[in-house]
Amino acid sequence: DISGVSVARLGSGIGARVDGVRLGGDLDADTVAKVRATLLAHKVIFFRGQQHLDDAGQLAFGSLLGEPTLAHPTVRGRQNLNVLPIDSDYGKANSWHTDVTFVDRVPAISILRAITLPTYGGTTVWANTVTAYETLPPSLKALVDQLWAVHTNAYDYAANIDELRIGGVDVKTEEYRKEFVSDLYETEHPVVRVHPETGERALLLGHFVKRLIGLSSTESQAVFNLLQARVTRLENTVRWDWQDGDVAIWDNRATQHYAVADYDDQPRRLHRITLAGDVPVSVDG
Ligand code: SIN
Repeated sequence: DISGVSVARLGSGIGARVDGVRLGGDLDADTVAKVRATLLAHKVIFFRGQQHLDDAGQLAFGSLLGEPTLAHPTVRGRQNLNVLPIDSDYGKANSWHTDVTFVDRVPAISILRAITLPTYGGTTVWANTVTAYETLPPSLKALVDQLWAVHTNAYDYAANIDELRIGGVDVKTEEYRKEFVSDLYETEHPVVRVHPETGERALLLGHFVKRLIGLSSTESQAVFNLLQARVTRLENTVRWDWQDGDVAIWDNRATQHYAVADYDDQPRRLHRITLAGDVPVSVDG
């Protein structure tokens, strides 16, 4: 093993903390390989004490794991073309999703770095979409193996924020929403995708799903809810309480996540980069 690098699991299902790695564009190949293997095994991994990183360093490190994409298909990175500020002033990602599933090539990996944190709350929860699939009974597996879903960036956004923004959506959030849907994307993905690196089967759903193909809207919503309930079972999740200098890396092909909006009006900012991924492949190839 790599000297000085240790991996501590955070639960039986998902998540590990990695100590002894100073992230950056100068990491040696063995350590990069260890980071990748740990990511594939645990789906989301956390690094503390990475205060030395800036946007350029985050991107340089990301480039060792894959090819950074533009910050977002519709939302411009505000400081750097490849870096997406996740900023509570503009919206809160407090609904379960996999990043950017409304494009054909869904990003493979996301890397998120803490910038400004609230004094309480603001944790993020990740769920393992592989175990969510694997623990389904065979009859349900047979059903979902054949299902496809339509994903769009024009998802029912208001459904997620109404409950938190009693009294109306503020102007910045409304502006962000407009930018988010400034180009409309819609694509179809298999509900069960075969992971291109591990061969594992994972549920590919989340809040960008508009409907399941071939089902009525009532059936579609019912099946979606049933599957999402499997994904988000607490035993299937890990929750991270951010500290200054923290970096999280997740396998966007095997997870969903949810940013808990329990920090009132305090600012919360993180910088995200995403690495390019493949077109999801179904169990039928
Ligand atoms: C995201 O949805 O990519 C950001 C998660 C977070 O704000 O913690």
